[in-house]
Amino acid sequence: MPNPSFPYDSCFQDLIGKLHSEGRYRVFAELEREVGRFPIVHLHSADGSQREVVVWCSNDYLGMGHHPSVLSAMHRSLDSFGAGSGGTRNIAGNHNSIVCLEKELAELHDKEAALAFSSGYVANVTALSTLAKALPGCVVFSDSENHASMIQGIRGSRCRKYVFEHNDLAHLERLLKDVDKDLPKIVAFESVYSMSGDFGLIEEICGLAKAYGALTYLDETHGVGLYGHKGGGVAQERHLTDRVDVLQGGLGKGFGVVGGFVTGSSLVIDVIRSYGTGFIFTTSLPPVIAEGAIASLKHLKTSGEERTRHQENARALKEILSSAGLPMLHTPSHIVPLMVRHSGTCKAVSDYLLEQEDIYIQPINYPTVPAGTERLRITPTPLHTTEQMVSLRDALLRAWSVFDLPLEQFSKGVAVSRNNFCEQLS
Ligand SMILES: Cc1ncc(COP(=O)(O)O)c(C=O)c1O
Repeated sequence: MPNPSFPYDSCFQDLIGKLHSEGRYRVFAELEREVGRFPIVHLHSADGSQREVVVWCSNDYLGMGHHPSVLSAMHRSLDSFGAGSGGTRNIAGNHNSIVCLEKELAELHDKEAALAFSSGYVANVTALSTLAKALPGCVVFSDSENHASMIQGIRGSRCRKYVFEHNDLAHLERLLKDVDKDLPKIVAFESVYSMSGDFGLIEEICGLAKAYGALTYLDETHGVGLYGHKGGGVAQERHLTDRVDVLQGGLGKGFGVVGGFVTGSSLVIDVIRSYGTGFIFTTSLPPVIAEGAIASLKHLKTSGEERTRHQENARALKEILSSAGLPMLHTPSHIVPLMVRHSGTCKAVSDYLLEQEDIYIQPINYPTVPAGTERLRITPTPLHTTEQMVSLRDALLRAWSVFDLPLEQFSKGVAVSRNNFCEQLS
């Protein structure tokens, strides 16, 4: 860098130093997945060595990233159509695979049309900013736990926005009531809140939105593939798809590939397609990804086996952890947050699990969750075994002991101290 008058480096160093001092500096484990072995992966260490660890924090919720039908579709596509898409759809052409993917997505959600994006993040930013900008005077109502990508999209629209307390219908209604009834409105929320593991109140929120003339925008990133008879998400499971105006989802989680999408009426999707800069000015998904996503969607449309086993494993793990007194949030979904409530300790517990127990669970700290609610976010999959669940419980109890963290009472009503429990384990 030239000799600047502004101290660029010290500014950047201060920012990084702040993260270190608050225990929030992000370190990513270097992993290598091996087809057929998930959730066991290879961990690469700085000294060049490798060892196997069990992953408990993957968002490849159903293991579809390794599913044979997904892999063979992607192999075929790669050999036939090559690696990339060749550019933006606007300039380089609209690959048939993406058009087919969008048809599948629209059909999955019983909507007229769908639009694919390079990620769920880009889908949210683009769709929300475009829609809110397209409607003159639009006011957006956003759940306080909405994902950063929705927040970014709403901000990008520069429209008026109100944040309602998470799942608080009375608060949402007060805010809706206060806005001129003739102004266009959008209520934006999620079906599965991925950090707290609870469900959005889809029916109730759609009811309120309708009463006050608002469009509904539902993020199903953590619901698609996992819920609903065809894997269409929580709205599908609850027969509420037709109440949602714009349904957003991801291809990188339940479907195991990468990308994002929105579905809705042909007109709304056409507006996003025609005005959304995050759609127009970026290289489209390559056909190989689209074909993998189609294979995954098609499989999960007819096979409920992965969903059933996923829910069974989530229930089993919750029972195993909570009966050991580990302080988890009792969630209705597949997500199991284990509360540590301190950023430095959360990171230290995660490091301990990786180094001493060969278990990988990424710590979740501020700003992903509010300070004081730091947690280990555990995501069981259909591929985790009971033996792995029991090993996880035992490892967590040893970690809780090492870091002197509080346990809750056993659910069977017997209060046993941590020391007693660790003795029982040894
Ligand atoms: C609720 C929600 N929406 C959108 C996204 C972004 O999805 P993607 O990872 O496909 O960019 C995430 C990411 O985890 C998310 O949790």
